[in-house]
Amino acid sequence: MSGTILVIDDEEIMREILEALLTREGYQVRLASTAAAGLEAARGMPFDAAIVDVMLPGMDGVQALDELKKIDDDLPVLMITAYASVESAISAMKRGAFDYISKPFKNDEVLAVLRNALAQKRLVAENRALRQNLQAHVNRFGEIIGKSGRMRQVFDLIIQAAPSRTTILINGESGTGKELVARSLHQNSARADRAFITVNSGNLPPDLLESNLFGHVKGAFTGAVYPKKGLFELADKGTIFFDEIGNIPLETQAKLLRVIQEREFMRLGGVETIKVDVRIIAATNNDLKRMMEEGKFREDLYYRLHVITVQLPPLRERKDDIPLLVQHFMDKYGEENNKPGLELSAEALDLLLDYDWPGNVRELENVIERATVLSSGPRIDADLIPDHVRSSRRFQMPQFVVPPEGISYRDAEASFQRGLIESALEAAGGVQKRAAELLHIKPTTLNEMIKRHDIRPRRKKASNGTAPGAAGDAADPDSEPEVLAADRD
Ligand SMILES: Nc1ncnc2c1ncn2[C@@H]1O[C@H](COP(=O)(O)OP(=O)(O)OP(=O)(O)O)[C@@H](O)[C@H]1O
Ligand SMILES: [Mg+2]
Repeated sequence: MSGTILVIDDEEIMREILEALLTREGYQVRLASTAAAGLEAARGMPFDAAIVDVMLPGMDGVQALDELKKIDDDLPVLMITAYASVESAISAMKRGAFDYISKPFKNDEVLAVLRNALAQKRLVAENRALRQNLQAHVNRFGEIIGKSGRMRQVFDLIIQAAPSRTTILINGESGTGKELVARSLHQNSARADRAFITVNSGNLPPDLLESNLFGHVKGAFTGAVYPKKGLFELADKGTIFFDEIGNIPLETQAKLLRVIQEREFMRLGGVETIKVDVRIIAATNNDLKRMMEEGKFREDLYYRLHVITVQLPPLRERKDDIPLLVQHFMDKYGEENNKPGLELSAEALDLLLDYDWPGNVRELENVIERATVLSSGPRIDADLIPDHVRSSRRFQMPQFVVPPEGISYRDAEASFQRGLIESALEAAGGVQKRAAELLHIKPTTLNEMIKRHDIRPRRKKASNGTAPGAAGDAADPDSEPEVLAADRD
């Protein structure tokens, strides 16, 4: 390992320890005992990384970090903190420190973090050129399809972050491709031929989750007849992916933090410390920051996870990716269903572009799969797009043309109201309560209007002798009827 490291620490003994440790590893070291001296050194020559004590006399470590970043924004800065000052370490992380290490530290830990920092810095530099290319004309990255600016940034970040062991948090709504990105990070790292283990942090009770993660020794609990390896051990030299990390109970979070920091743990009921070399990737569709503020997520774990965050944009914010994704899924499902060369009609594409995709790419994928299966010709037409996708098209005011002879204002208004109510009922599947919600009016108001305009709900099938569209429905706005759509006689 080579590189020039700046060490800022006011304690002589610490400077000596770090100097000895780093020189032994082949690094060049520059020592400074105050922030001022350190900054002067940084202005005089470029460094590859800095190790800065949080507690310094005069200008403290966190301020020194700010100043160092002004001199060189790419400089990875490792903060060293006493246990008492973990708070300031966290505030340093917020301000761009690469990582923090608590005293007393283990030599291995310092070296591991430093290696990470240097690897990262090198990658940032190396990838600048690559990224410029990428910006220009890529519309996929491995399995991940996209050409929007937002997705290119994601590709960019994957390229940068994949090779190091840095913990990564992937944030995004359901169906935005978090798992896909996690796999891609693994595949683009040196760990690609090792295990990729997914932990569904989901609804397991804490004990079970922990015995899954850490394994247990024989007799650890009733039923533990054999010792068992945990997922961390299985993921050794590979990647472990925590899907929905927000669901991990607080007690388990503490243990997880320890693994992230020390890369070691014990099996349940065990006494032996097990060391692992794992890359940790976590995903969430929760607002972890909010959870943290509400006390549901540990602050220290939050900042450990946040070293690098990949933010996946919802599909509605990158609609320029829709045509590409559609093509990709038509090819995929076309092949599976023996219907090669499928096309999408312009009208169908318009529908897809208008919709907001609350279920994101997964929902789009399902819609295209369904349409592909149902299609009978070479083209997917608007009629193969499901109702909920089309009915959520943006509201459009009708075009009003007043004829030369004039028109009755009352009649025009009534017909507009009637049309609006009918559309709302249709969108609501005939359920009045829901239709009222769609129009932001009270169900009773809607019900009055239905009566006033004599809008007759159409029954799916006439039942128990009541006349179709009978007052029975109209009288009870809360009834959840089998009414399909409004119909006039
Ligand atoms: N950019 C993309 N290109 C191609 N396929 C995608 C893309 N994004 C998502 N998909 C596909 O959409 C589906 C959902 O993706 P994935 O499982 O990664 O989402 P997720 O964010 O993990 O969702 P959840 O939060 O519900 O677990 C998968 O079939 C995936 O292959
Ligand atoms: Mg997922």
